[in-house]
Amino acid sequence: MHPQISAIRFAVPLLAALAYGACDRQPAATPPPHPSAAVIAAAAAARIDTPPPPLSPTARLGQQMFFDPALSGSGKMSCATCHDPAHAYAPANALPVQLGGPALDRQGVRAVPTLTYLERTPRFVIRPDIRFDPDEGRLAKAPRPALNARPGGTRGQAAVQPAQSVPEGGMDWDGRASTLAEQAGGPLLDPREMANRDTLALLARLRAAPYAKAFAAVFGREALDLPEHGLADAYQALARFQIEDRSFHRYDSKFDYVLAGRAQLSAQELRGLALFDDPHKGNCAACHLDRPSKNRLAPVFTDYEFEALAAPRNAALAANRDPAYFDEGLCGPARADLTGRQDLCGLFKTPTLRNVATRQVFFHNGVFHSLKDVLRFYVERETRPEQWYPRRADGTVEKYDDLPPAHRANVDRGDAPFDRGAGDPPALDQQEIEDLIAFLETLTDGYRPAG
Ligand code: HEC
Ligand code: HEC
Repeated sequence: MHPQISAIRFAVPLLAALAYGACDRQPAATPPPHPSAAVIAAAAAARIDTPPPPLSPTARLGQQMFFDPALSGSGKMSCATCHDPAHAYAPANALPVQLGGPALDRQGVRAVPTLTYLERTPRFVIRPDIRFDPDEGRLAKAPRPALNARPGGTRGQAAVQPAQSVPEGGMDWDGRASTLAEQAGGPLLDPREMANRDTLALLARLRAAPYAKAFAAVFGREALDLPEHGLADAYQALARFQIEDRSFHRYDSKFDYVLAGRAQLSAQELRGLALFDDPHKGNCAACHLDRPSKNRLAPVFTDYEFEALAAPRNAALAANRDPAYFDEGLCGPARADLTGRQDLCGLFKTPTLRNVATRQVFFHNGVFHSLKDVLRFYVERETRPEQWYPRRADGTVEKYDDLPPAHRANVDRGDAPFDRGAGDPPALDQQEIEDLIAFLETLTDGYRPAG
């Protein structure tokens, strides 16, 4: 965040004005101006007011599949079992990870993410470390310390291929599926999830489904007899449902009403927003982008990049009983194509924060159960590490205990609020943490303005 812009943002209570209204005061070095506050507000209002268009036949098919437990090996688990529409497409329970498999007794290894606000996720790429502007509101972001030039040097030391060093986009915590369609096959075939024995078993289930006729009407009569085509069509239908159905991206939170100029943040929520943006306090907006893009798209509170934040090891996961097992995100073991990239070990995707206040578990390993704990971790990881990590036999604290020692250098220590040392005051005090949470609560879909 450019200091001048952040100063403007804190000054004016109305979010639209505060964030976007002051293009004439932007530094000359940032050429294309942001749309005016009025344009932003009109776009936000249109998102709230425009009724959703009817689903295409392909998306309707995907909808039926999404809620169909008969597509699983157990016969009892659908996508919605883990991605419940009543919980922003996250689980209804508070388990750190869910149980699946043929007998619904196999524990997964990662927390179930929300499926909301994935529709603009770019394909996974590892791109050169130059700031470009894909019109995602990034211009507003500081020359954020480049990944391989961060103070504290964490990834700097490890950056073996600086020319291709910024991973971005994709589905799952490690971006291993590039698109929604590519992702859809994962859970259907995962032995810990919907556990179809193989693709032929899945095809047989689709052929027996009550919507097999609809499938043929959309994709052709032979579609389900041609294994490769049939499955690609099925995954496409699941993706279309998630892209077309408004319930996945409603853009009707209080925050969106504020953008539209139809609601005001409370004093506490405003304080929370200021902390969210302040590069020396929360600094959340450095990664969880909170400004509309130049083409007026609403912010989704992620830059789609990956970071190593070193969440503590979660003893509740069966996989973690093996001391040699580490879930290292980009470098595996769930994804297998980047195992040679030591500099990417421990990095996970920055998730959207929309609907985050409805979640019951947080971070890729589900180790946290409240926003308060998440925020305390953010500000105490460096200042009071003993609160979060176990002690070794000799009494020293084993920081970053969910990464093998060789990869702990990848942990982000350059960005606030991590840029402090043991014993320093945390970047946020208790009241500030509560203010930030009040702001995060404005990101929950389904706000109804008073009156
Ligand atoms: C047993 C629980 C479970 C079921 C059933 C399940 N998922 Fe998931 N889903 C997960 C988990 C866990 C992840 C994160 C996986 C990872 O990061 O490796 C995930 C990730 C996703 C993502 C990526 C989200 C993101 O933020 O990148 C999408 C999309 C998705 N699931 C769609 C589906 C669809 C469609 C189905 C049904 C075909 C389905 N899921 C069934 C547990 C489940
Ligand atoms: C350097 C980038 C970065 C900064 C700065 C940052 N985050 Fe995050 N955030 C991430 C990443 C990456 C994850 C996922 C980490 C993981 O699962 O291992 C995450 C996860 C979260 C989650 C859990 C979401 C979920 O679905 O489980 C919350 C809540 C959150 N961040 C809020 C914040 C807040 C509030 C701030 C400011 C105090 C902040 N973040 C600052 C990158 C960042």
